[in-house]
Amino acid sequence: MNMIRSIIKGTGHYVPENVVTNEDLSKIMTTSDEWITERTGIKERRHRKERNDAQETTSYLGLKASEMALENAGLTAKDLDFIIFATLSPDYFFPGCGVQIQEALGCDTIGALDVRNQCSGFIYALSVANAFIKSGTYKNILVVGAEVHSFGLDFSDEGRGVSVIFGDGAGAVILSKASDHEKGDVLAFNMHSEGKHAEELSTKFPGSKFGWSDRMRLEPEAVTNAEIYPNMNGNFVFKHAVTRFPESMLEALESAGKTLEDLDLFIPHQANLRIAQFVQKKLGLKDDQVFNNIQKYGNTTAASIPLAFSEAVSEGKAKRGDLVLLTAFGSGFTWGSVLLVY
Ligand code: ACO
Repeated sequence: MNMIRSIIKGTGHYVPENVVTNEDLSKIMTTSDEWITERTGIKERRHRKERNDAQETTSYLGLKASEMALENAGLTAKDLDFIIFATLSPDYFFPGCGVQIQEALGCDTIGALDVRNQCSGFIYALSVANAFIKSGTYKNILVVGAEVHSFGLDFSDEGRGVSVIFGDGAGAVILSKASDHEKGDVLAFNMHSEGKHAEELSTKFPGSKFGWSDRMRLEPEAVTNAEIYPNMNGNFVFKHAVTRFPESMLEALESAGKTLEDLDLFIPHQANLRIAQFVQKKLGLKDDQVFNNIQKYGNTTAASIPLAFSEAVSEGKAKRGDLVLLTAFGSGFTWGSVLLVY
């Protein structure tokens, strides 16, 4: 029987031009390059130039990454059958960013789905895209991860433990049905969740669980109490991340009958360089088997894996035929992996 294979036909990425170094942050809050580098490995990140920039929205960053991915795939927007967009920082509270991309790219009235799984959003989005390709439903799916964090972080000393970590950026891939002459396939994926830890890494407002007193999405007190900003139990997140990453990675490899030695490239969600290094050491992966770029972009949440993947392709570090493992862990908690031959 001729099985359908799904391949990454094209990759793309985009980041705002504005570079914000650790030194820059130390001018607006009590922090230092030494503190940030030691704890996170981050040296700089991108922020859109103006925090209230109506042009450089999440869907705009996603659009630029998508245009590069389409060009890289040798396709046009008219070839797309479906769009999946992962983000926690959409242009609007609703609707999601998928429809903004459909309009901006000038696609036909194809379906556009938003995924709300934060750091693991791209893994979930790619897994859903893979299922649609493998079922024979669609041929070319645009999968985007994009975030604008810089408008929603607390840059005062109270928020410094979180705000130094996150940056703006976008990445995209085109997942396509492979033709006979094209190599590659998605070999395995897994997705997990543990909702009891939802508030260990969350942004509460605007949310239907809160704001009940005045029936308002956003109460003035929420702003005063800084509850509109992300809050993170850093040590708790760290401990869970370094357990769930290896579990999910080994599960994916095992279900495809592969081993760590077979891996050409591991691209972890760029949460924190310390987490990636801990996982690398625990599993005994060599330096040239792991790709990190958090040093330049910070943690871009749903964008981090496609942004890293696209850079790895551009730099020749991910080559056609390579066995590539993508793994993420984050808010929810949610985590998962996609193992593929690129
Ligand atoms: N600059 C200087 N000092 C700071 C900063 C800062 N940016 N942020 C916090 N501090 C201070 C704190 O106020 C505290 O001071 P105190 O001892 O006087 O009270 C001290 O530094 C230590 O603070 P901690 O929060 O305990 O810092 P910790 O060493 O735990 O590091 C960090 C924080 C980096 C977040 C760490 O917990 C960690 O690596 N967590 C993993 C989670 C993570 O990286 N998540 C990324 C996003 S989530 C995801 O993508 C999965």
